[in-house]
Amino acid sequence: MLAGKRILLIIGGGIAAFKCHDLIRRLRERGAAVTPVLTRAAQEFVTPLSISALAGEKVFTDLFDLTAEAEMGHIELSRSADLVVVAPATADLMAKMANGLADDLASTLLLATDTPVLIAPAMNVRMWDHPATRRNLATLTGDGVRLAGPNEGPMACGEFGPGRMAEPMEIVEAIAGVLADGPLKGRRILVTSGPTHEPIDPVRYIANRSSGAQGAAIASALSGLGAEVVFVTGPADVPPPAGVEVVRVETARQMQAAVEAALPADAAIFAAAVADWRVASASDSKLKKTTGGLPELALAENPDILAGVARMGAGRPGLVVGFAAETDDVVAHATAKRARKGCDWILANDVSPATGIMGGSENAVVLITGEGAESWPRMRKDQVARALADRIAAALAGQTS
Ligand code: CTP
Repeated sequence: MLAGKRILLIIGGGIAAFKCHDLIRRLRERGAAVTPVLTRAAQEFVTPLSISALAGEKVFTDLFDLTAEAEMGHIELSRSADLVVVAPATADLMAKMANGLADDLASTLLLATDTPVLIAPAMNVRMWDHPATRRNLATLTGDGVRLAGPNEGPMACGEFGPGRMAEPMEIVEAIAGVLADGPLKGRRILVTSGPTHEPIDPVRYIANRSSGAQGAAIASALSGLGAEVVFVTGPADVPPPAGVEVVRVETARQMQAAVEAALPADAAIFAAAVADWRVASASDSKLKKTTGGLPELALAENPDILAGVARMGAGRPGLVVGFAAETDDVVAHATAKRARKGCDWILANDVSPATGIMGGSENAVVLITGEGAESWPRMRKDQVARALADRIAAALAGQTS
């Protein structure tokens, strides 16, 4: 699937650099050629010799390597690839990229390149969460830089959280997604997924049984057709797919803000099971049994994120798709919901407990469009996702972009 593609792999200075041995091997197995570039710090973690042996190519390390300049200038090197991949993308490299610094070979190549760039960040969780890194990430994604990971888990530094570099196969999938020549290439699509958690106090929350499986499958299918996918997800059971830009949120209001920040998009798919209500004033401290009587939980209505986007004027995505989870009169309720929310399509499903759909691996949906209702046979959620992605591709192809 990567046959004939050339990847310029910039290896940053982090412990995750060791995963690049496997990454190079897997890229070459799939037919890609890899030109490696090591930063000075990267050479503390992996050697040019081992990387060169695996890539079967010369490793570039120095901006002022005159032999290399004679053979191939750094400008040419930066443009000779189909894709530039930065792995691990350290906090320092991301900061340099976001600010256009060019004080070594890696950063100079990144500033000079006119090919797409994908980064696989890896850093300590505090560094990842730092406002400076958040700002740099927002700048980079705004510049069109694509993201693989990071994942959540235990880290080499002993802490736990987001910041672990994506696994080599996840990066390979992300690379394949960016290079895919599918019908959705060049299209930016927003997908919401998972439940939301609405806090009652610091330890309790209101939630629902959504696993996030259908939303993740849709994001994966769209990415597989070449779309650039922004995946805004609540706390789901299933991990987000590789190759999409992941924005993690907890509450409906955070999801709304993330959705607004992710626009403009060519299409927006609202697969999240957003909590309709939140506790009007969540307590800052844990509610105690002993404070007398039962706590009164006054509720406030959450913003309807789908309706907000479907009814926005300028900047509305060309195709807005909602979901309807119903337990009876599925078509009638979903048809009314489509009109009420102002979206183009509704994918309705029967989530009554007997169907086993909520939290299960299968789905039976009815697609409601302006033309009417179309029942799809019961199938796996990834098959529903692929069928929907094909329909979205066909619909967008019919629109002038
Ligand atoms: N949705 C949303 N924001 C909300 C509630 C729902 O974006 N605050 C979106 C969901 O992602 C889904 C669609 O709206 O695409 C339908 O959600 P659903 O909960 O089924 O519909 P409701 O409007 O809550 O209607 P009801 O609860 O009356 O069935």
